[in-house]
Amino acid sequence: MSLDDQQVPFSPPSVTEGDIERVVEVLRSRWLSTGAVSHELEERLAERLGAPFVVAVSSCTAALEISLRSLRLPPGARVGVPAWTFVASASSIVHAGGTPVLLDVEPDSLNLSPDAVASAIDAGLDGLVVVHFAGAPVDESIHALAAGAGIPVVEDAAHALGATDHRGQMSGAGTVGACFSFYATKNLTSAEGGALATHDEDLARFARSQRLHGLSNDAWDRYRVGGRTDYDMLEPGLKANLPDLLAALACSQLDRFDEMQAQRRALVERYRAGLSEIAGIDPLRGDDRSADHLMVALLDEGIDRTEVVGCLGAAGIGTGIHFRPLHRFSWFAEHAEIGPGGVPVSEALADRALSLPLHAELRPGQVDRVLDVLADAVP
Ligand SMILES: Cc1ncc(COP(=O)(O)O)c(C=O)c1O
Repeated sequence: MSLDDQQVPFSPPSVTEGDIERVVEVLRSRWLSTGAVSHELEERLAERLGAPFVVAVSSCTAALEISLRSLRLPPGARVGVPAWTFVASASSIVHAGGTPVLLDVEPDSLNLSPDAVASAIDAGLDGLVVVHFAGAPVDESIHALAAGAGIPVVEDAAHALGATDHRGQMSGAGTVGACFSFYATKNLTSAEGGALATHDEDLARFARSQRLHGLSNDAWDRYRVGGRTDYDMLEPGLKANLPDLLAALACSQLDRFDEMQAQRRALVERYRAGLSEIAGIDPLRGDDRSADHLMVALLDEGIDRTEVVGCLGAAGIGTGIHFRPLHRFSWFAEHAEIGPGGVPVSEALADRALSLPLHAELRPGQVDRVLDVLADAVP
């Protein structure tokens, strides 16, 4: 093992000289904010995903909020969301005027439970945010349940660029749309950024306007040579456009996205084989369709996660917790509703999930080192 294998960061972005060159090109061009490169990213993502429309925005959070706003929900509308997710999946519901209804997840995947969705629909839901947790698609039956009840579904695909399900790539087919994140730890990054993929032209138009104050045309239209001079404000929007400076990094990363995904898959397989030899810790259920965004494992009941994290940290190994379930945050505890069946699985597993280092530049030797330290750390 080389000396470098002793330090294992959790999820640093992969940044090549090619990425740097592409960003510098934008700096040299002097067009820094949203323009040709952001549009290039939209076109390439649309082609890759098979989505008729892709709108680049400043974050997945903005894509979620815009999608939910497009539903024009009545104040306090009840929108289901898994309890096991990042706060943004639910706070975007609040920003769109709704009330999050926290739903439980499956114990082996930590992905939304179809039973929890069915009971919530019976009790009355106005919308649903599904989260493809760790990059694994939600159960196909959830789409059928929502469609049968006429409930609009917004897909939080923050982890899911590169994932597939019964519909193929995550293009927002049959849902309001799929919202991606290009945050620094994601499989493809622009430092901060996101995109909405949709089959709905009206939503795409709404999103293009909402990402820029509700204006009818963007800076590219207004300021480029020969651009349009007339524009209007249709309704108040966000300031959530993706600048070319950031889009350039994502465009460059798209060139090697498949290669990075293949590296992630090989590392996940190595982890899974190694973890099967260690008592007291089990990976989540495997899924060939996953984007392999996170390597999440569950510690056996009674094992102290803080101690395990401490042992790994002492060995120079970074870890993450995905997620602290929403009902354990003060604001959601007070203001969110809990779905009809409660959230017993999320509560029982809240202190047992542990995310291990996973990123495109992680080396097999580093995975082995994590496994060695884990084998000693897990009693
Ligand atoms: C499940 C989930 N949804 C939404 C987000 C928000 O993404 P962004 O930081 O691009 O707004 C994250 C971020 O990590 C996430 O993990």
